[in-house]
Amino acid sequence: MADAPEYDIRHIEHPNPVPSATREQAIADPGFGKLFTDHMVRIDWHEDKGWHDARLMARGPIELDPSASVLHYAQEIFEGLKAYRHADGSLALFRPEENARRFNRSAARLAMPDLPEEAFLGAIRALVLKDRDWFPSVEGGSLYIRPFMIATEAFLGVRPAKEYAFMVILSPAGGYFKSGAPAISIRLGEHYTRAAPGGTGFAKCGGNYAASLVPQGEALASGHDQVVFLDAVERRWVEELGGMNLFFVFEDGRMVTPPLGDTILAGITRDSILTLAREEGLDVVEERYAIDQWRADAESGKLVETLACGTAAVVTPVGKVTAEDYSFEIGSGGPGQLTQKLRERLVGIQTGTVEDRHGWITKLG
Ligand SMILES: Cc1ncc(COP(=O)(O)O)c(C=O)c1O
Repeated sequence: MADAPEYDIRHIEHPNPVPSATREQAIADPGFGKLFTDHMVRIDWHEDKGWHDARLMARGPIELDPSASVLHYAQEIFEGLKAYRHADGSLALFRPEENARRFNRSAARLAMPDLPEEAFLGAIRALVLKDRDWFPSVEGGSLYIRPFMIATEAFLGVRPAKEYAFMVILSPAGGYFKSGAPAISIRLGEHYTRAAPGGTGFAKCGGNYAASLVPQGEALASGHDQVVFLDAVERRWVEELGGMNLFFVFEDGRMVTPPLGDTILAGITRDSILTLAREEGLDVVEERYAIDQWRADAESGKLVETLACGTAAVVTPVGKVTAEDYSFEIGSGGPGQLTQKLRERLVGIQTGTVEDRHGWITKLG
């Protein structure tokens, strides 16, 4: 940041931070996504000025003109990552530069300006250090980091806006699962697709998630945890869950995950699992996998595990899949051995109990 003075962050004093006793009580049971820390970072972009006016200030409502493009044409992108606490009390990020890169791939697809990686990372570093007292006191807790960018220009024409705001907020989060991950049950989203070729599936834009709410809601209403989407062209190839990537593990030591393209989000957990599974000696391939094959392999016992992965729940076993006319169980229907092992390795690296041999950890101090 020293050689990029335009991203120097101005600290504006918070007039009224949450009293420490209230904060301590809140972080003892933070849940997910409903508790927020005292501060936020904001950097503005203007067509003539570029990125400017980086500031760290009190978190609070933002003022937006009712005609702002984000409210009408959904020019919005976001990221999600976590800060972890290591045994020495330091805070650490897991592969945050990958989030910065994915943010810019999303920005390019949504016709939004590129944000220099050092601005993205500098904003996160400053905010996490400022609000480090908000780190949850519960076992397995983390500080969930939500960087996002919105189009703020007041203009109703359908074209890329000329003004944007990049912001970062933090949400203390409890452990997703208390002891290991229970197997989840998923519903095949037969009547919906998530992403079409040429569309925005690979981008982390709000619109993708708005479109997933009905299928996800139907999955929940029928007693399932998540919806799984098939490809939009043949309605045959398994793509991903509403917010997690998938891996299929076979009895012969093969592991398959759907290949990246423009319809699947390039999960950072997915990429890390590819590396860790190969280190475990598995033969991991990125290859299309059909829903009928998934069912046949589960029924024949060739498929021994299916795991879903993402920042929020890390690695979660899939125990059961239900479609309109059939359902099938995977393995014993509970967590498989490889799923457990990969989860422990990954959580260990993130929390500092397993050696970081890949340079995935950024210590914040
Ligand atoms: C659609 C979708 N797929 C996959 C993932 C997993 O990505 P990551 O491992 O980077 O959290 C997410 C979560 O960000 C997601 O929203």
